[in-house]
Amino acid sequence: MSGKGYLYYAHTMPGLEEVAWIEMRSRLDGASFEGSKTLPGKNGLVFFRYAGQAADLLKLRAVEDVFFLVVRIPKVAWGREGLSQIYQLLARDRFLEAGLGLHGQVSRRRSGRGGTFRVISRMAGGRQPYRRIDFERAAEGALKKRLGRQWRAVEEGEDVEIWANLIGLEFVCGLRLSDASMRHREYKQAHVAASLRPSVAAAMAWLTDPRPGDVFLDPLCGAGTLLVERGTIERHALLLGGDIDAGALRAAAQNVGPRHKPRQLLRWDAGRLPLADASVDKIATNLPFGKQIGSPQGNRRLYRAVFAEIDRVLCSDGSAVVLSSEAELIKDTVRKLRGLQILRGYSITVLGQQARVYVIGRSG
Ligand SMILES: C[S@@+](CC[C@H](N)C(=O)[O-])C[C@H]1O[C@@H](n2cnc3c(N)ncnc32)[C@H](O)[C@@H]1O
Repeated sequence: MSGKGYLYYAHTMPGLEEVAWIEMRSRLDGASFEGSKTLPGKNGLVFFRYAGQAADLLKLRAVEDVFFLVVRIPKVAWGREGLSQIYQLLARDRFLEAGLGLHGQVSRRRSGRGGTFRVISRMAGGRQPYRRIDFERAAEGALKKRLGRQWRAVEEGEDVEIWANLIGLEFVCGLRLSDASMRHREYKQAHVAASLRPSVAAAMAWLTDPRPGDVFLDPLCGAGTLLVERGTIERHALLLGGDIDAGALRAAAQNVGPRHKPRQLLRWDAGRLPLADASVDKIATNLPFGKQIGSPQGNRRLYRAVFAEIDRVLCSDGSAVVLSSEAELIKDTVRKLRGLQILRGYSITVLGQQARVYVIGRSG
């Protein structure tokens, strides 16, 4: 390891790279940002350096997977010359053993002196004259050479996954340290339609700038994903969630469980909240989108009523983080309210659909 630690990268939902870094900066002592990239339609990549324990990385919540960076070549030659460049560099790589060692530390799978590996390849842009499978075979061939006889390439049941990405002319190869349990949350037992992906909910919770004294509200809480993620990230004064649908509230109660006290779940209309003026510090919510649930006219009425309530219950230095694919409707609705203004927005893809996350603060 160099004095400053190893290089890693994390997968995020596309568009949430910057927000994922907010979490890393806060959770990983001394970590440094080394850039980001988006693989359109697939995921974002956040590169960083970290000298602490690899196990710390698996505790991140706003990311979907974490990788040890084996090699990153900013610009490979176009065409077959690039393939042989990738082969040569990977076959001589100096960091694989370190990555395998870290994988052995953090995973329950065997990855010590030998085992099996699988190459997962992805190509985006660059219009190469070779197919993805040619790229994959080049990477696999180089790794076989590099790892020697003790390691065998397989197509399933592998001990270790090695991902080869060609994004335009940039080659990124990583050894996956996390497994599916990083994305999956044990607490998510009950589901509702259009429930948020936990990593997106965690990113939204981070955008509220969580503080231990927060009264945090999700007025359309569905299965309660935002409440649980917020409750896990930082202490709070009160977690408040509600929904118009009794089934959604039952799901939220089951998912929140006995944890994250003090908290309150209430059945309500988010357009008429039973809460006092200026009584909430932070709000995060995802509103129904046109295509998911609701209708365009219904949504317009709902958005108007919900934002009027956000304006009323939010305290003078409070903030709200809102996700929806109805970007124009949100901008239009917030513009008409004197007390709120959009501070910034992030374009993200959630389950193949374009959406915006807006950070909204007090105006004036
Ligand atoms: C997109 S879902 C929220 C999903 C939630 N963030 C999760 O992760 O499960 C929107 C929720 O808004 C609720 N809803 C719709 N209209 C409402 C209203 N007027 N008041 C309160 N909740 C409402 C729906 O029942 C649904 O659960």
